[in-house]
Amino acid sequence: MSSVVSHQMLQQIGLIGIHADLIRQADGGDDLAAAVAQAKVNAAAIEEALGGVNRVLRDLLVFSRDLRLNLYEHRLADVLAECVEECQAQAAERAVTLRLEGPAEPTVVLDKLKMKQAVVNVLRNAIEASPPGSWVVVRGSTRDGWAEVAITDRGPGIPEPDRNAIFTPFFTTKEQGTGLGLAIAREFTEAHGGRITVESEEGTGATFVLHLPLRPAGWGSGQHAAR
Ligand SMILES: Nc1ncnc2c1ncn2[C@@H]1O[C@H](COP(=O)(O)OP(=O)(O)OP(=O)(O)O)[C@@H](O)[C@H]1O
Ligand SMILES: [Mg+2]
Repeated sequence: MSSVVSHQMLQQIGLIGIHADLIRQADGGDDLAAAVAQAKVNAAAIEEALGGVNRVLRDLLVFSRDLRLNLYEHRLADVLAECVEECQAQAAERAVTLRLEGPAEPTVVLDKLKMKQAVVNVLRNAIEASPPGSWVVVRGSTRDGWAEVAITDRGPGIPEPDRNAIFTPFFTTKEQGTGLGLAIAREFTEAHGGRITVESEEGTGATFVLHLPLRPAGWGSGQHAAR
C-alpha cells in the first residue's frame, strides 16, 4: 500500500480514537445537555473519518481487482447514458448540467462494469472541476475501428506539468481525494487495448478522451452477442 494512503488512513483512524476517547471521558458534570451535545459532535467527527477510510479502502479494492474482461456487445450511447445517470445527483448538487451527445446506433464490445467505472471516474472529476451553471459534455462516437468517449468541462484546466502525473496512482490536488480515479480509468481502458488522452487549455477547461477498439483482442466466436 502506498505510504501516502497508509498515512491518510492512520490519520483518520487516529482522529476516530481521539473523538471516541473524548466521549468516554465525558462525565456530564453539571450540564448534561451540553455533554450530550458535545458527544454528538464527537460522534459526527467519527462518522466523517470513517467515511474517509471507507472511500480509500473501496478505491484500493477496485484497483487491486483482477483485470479479466467480461466482454459483451453494447450500444455505446446506452452505456454512456447509464454513466450520466449515475452522476446526475452530484451534478445537480453543484448546479452543473450534463449533456450527452453522439449517434445512438454504434455498438462497442466492452466490459460494461469496468468501462462504466472508467467513464464515471473521469466524469466525476469534470463535475468537481466545473463552475456552477456550466455544462459538462459527454460525447460518444466511432471512427476507423475505434470508439471515442470525450468528456469536456469548463473548469480551470490542467497545468501542463501535471498532464502525465494526474494518471499516476495517488496523485491528487484535492483535500478529500485519493488520487486513484484516473489511475483506475487508465488501467481499465488499457485493459481493453485502449488509451486515455487529455487536452487542456488552462483557464478554459479540459477534455479527456477514452479511445477504445470497437472489437478488442480476445473477442472471438462463441461469446454472447449483446446484453
Ligand atoms: N477535469 C479536470 N479538471 C481539472 N483537474 C483535473 C480534472 N480531472 C482530474 N484533475 C486533476 O487530476 C487529479 C487526479 O484525479 P483523480 O481522479 O485521479 O484523483 P482525485 O479526483 O484527486 O481523487 P479521487 O480518488 O477521489 O478520484 C485531481 O486531483 C485534479 O488535480
Ligand atoms: Mg477523481
